[in-house]
Amino acid sequence: MHFTKKITDDLIWVGVNDRRLAMFEGVYSVPGGVSYNSYLLLDDKTVLFDTVDKAVSHRFFENVAFALDGRQLDYLVIQHMEPDHSAVLEDLLLRYPNVKIVCNAKAQTMIKQFFDLDIDAEIVKENDTLNTGKHLLRFMMAPMVHWPEVMVTYDSTDKILFSADGFGTFGALNGAIFADEVDFNADYMNEARRYYTNIVGKYGTQVQALLTKASTLSIEMICPLHGFVWRKNLSDIISKYILWSTYQPEESGVVIAYASVYGNTENAAEILSGMLRSKGIKTTMFDVSVTPASEIISAAFKWSHLVIASTTYNAGIFVSMEDFIHDLVAHNIQNRTVAIIENGSWAATSGGLIRGKLEKCKNINILEQTVSIKSGLKPTQMTELEAIAGTIAADFPQPADNTNADSTLIDPGAMHKLSYGLFVLTAKEGEKDNGCIINTTIQITAAPLRISIAVIKENYTHDMIIKTGEFNVSTLSTSAPFSVFEHFGFHSGRDIDKFADCTTDNRTANGIRYIPKYTNSVISGKVIDTYGYDTHTLFVADVTESFVLSNEPSATYQYYFDHIKPKPQPLEEKKKGFICKICGYIYEGETLPEDFICPICKHGAIDFEPII
Ligand code: FEO
Repeated sequence: MHFTKKITDDLIWVGVNDRRLAMFEGVYSVPGGVSYNSYLLLDDKTVLFDTVDKAVSHRFFENVAFALDGRQLDYLVIQHMEPDHSAVLEDLLLRYPNVKIVCNAKAQTMIKQFFDLDIDAEIVKENDTLNTGKHLLRFMMAPMVHWPEVMVTYDSTDKILFSADGFGTFGALNGAIFADEVDFNADYMNEARRYYTNIVGKYGTQVQALLTKASTLSIEMICPLHGFVWRKNLSDIISKYILWSTYQPEESGVVIAYASVYGNTENAAEILSGMLRSKGIKTTMFDVSVTPASEIISAAFKWSHLVIASTTYNAGIFVSMEDFIHDLVAHNIQNRTVAIIENGSWAATSGGLIRGKLEKCKNINILEQTVSIKSGLKPTQMTELEAIAGTIAADFPQPADNTNADSTLIDPGAMHKLSYGLFVLTAKEGEKDNGCIINTTIQITAAPLRISIAVIKENYTHDMIIKTGEFNVSTLSTSAPFSVFEHFGFHSGRDIDKFADCTTDNRTANGIRYIPKYTNSVISGKVIDTYGYDTHTLFVADVTESFVLSNEPSATYQYYFDHIKPKPQPLEEKKKGFICKICGYIYEGETLPEDFICPICKHGAIDFEPII
């Protein structure tokens, strides 16, 4: 039975999911399966974009026949000749003998290599177009993203980029088709990274060339050959591609990959991991003999630092580590700091050999000192591990909570002297509206007009923006009463509907509510980048709309404390504890835990003071 999905009114996904494949390309485990995407455009002419792997050919042909609904197939656009997208070409030609193949010259050569077919194809070059009636398709070459014949297609009518392997993801689609139908960041980003780094990670320069071409286009949808179609929050995946293709880490932290025969090398790796954690540095550990290399490669692309710990074996690097290092170098890892630990009971050589291999990579800073273990780590060597931990830690910013700082030097009141504004941040997810108070909205650039906002990760509005990529900021004015701050700041949208009693429905063009009263202006933002910093996410956004509502001055943080926030009332009975200077919440107890977060306004212990 056919199973197709509608992408637009005249574009249908006719691909197939494969959950029986154990190893993609014979190398990469795909526990969540994989989708082979193929798309059928039903214009005046019908156009099929690529085909599928032969393992799923039966369902594919059912899907194509159903979607065509008796029409003939006019064109097959071949963007990529790797057999997971082309293996059924010969079968397709038998079923649709009048179809015209559209491909570039390199693909035509490969057709002859794979099939020994002499095809009269329509050969296209850079920026050639195909008019199919309503749609105008433009072809752009994308060599080595992932093979030399790869090209992508831009449908300038519906602003859709058919991106071949670009923006693909491991994993079957499980009934969904759009990335916004799932929690992509939580459930699929790791597989998108593992797909990218292992399949096209080597070809960062070529991916950047494609991104540059794509940046000249107005793209509203991306249709890749694997994984979900992107129609919302395109910046989620594009921003990752910018980092991955330039070999920039996504996050600060240390990947510790080790090979250990009897646990002694692992022991040293674990102790180092503990030392790093004590310094507030994130670590993740992999036994290269257990975890597939594709997962460790993916982690190495994500994190900023790498520790390689390996025993010596047959006078060389331990076999599974040697394979991993080979893979890492082959995938062109760059811009990382690496520390090495070696082990050898009589002749430790692995460290020097690993160093020699990694030195071939660009911008790899290998720490000078290799910790060399003879059989097992000795107490005297703890200082060597501490030295490595210290050197790595020097690359990291101080922990955000300043627990090691001299608290007498920190007066949080100084922060309140900054001309922070106060804003109601609103978002919409599906039919759900929500809003919260934030105090950080900053213009970054004027052309293009961009702002940044910082939002507490625990806020419901934060999660909505992560999912939708859009928000409004309404700037509160000095007329705003405390009740506005109470309403939007002291409750969670998870518990109440903050707009339940709203009699008006003021929205900007993005469909999100704004606050028309007690505010002086509104800015709509479309997120282009996000940065996670401990408790907050910094959203960078293009301004899509902005307007002024009144000439009342903005309510600064200082004004809020001086004129809006009620002064503390004398306590009826003296309680022992701490009071939140922001919202007045009282924590009862002798000592306030350092990591305490106010359950009302979510500010930390630093914003509490003892009740005197
Ligand atoms: Fe899914 Fe490079 O092919």
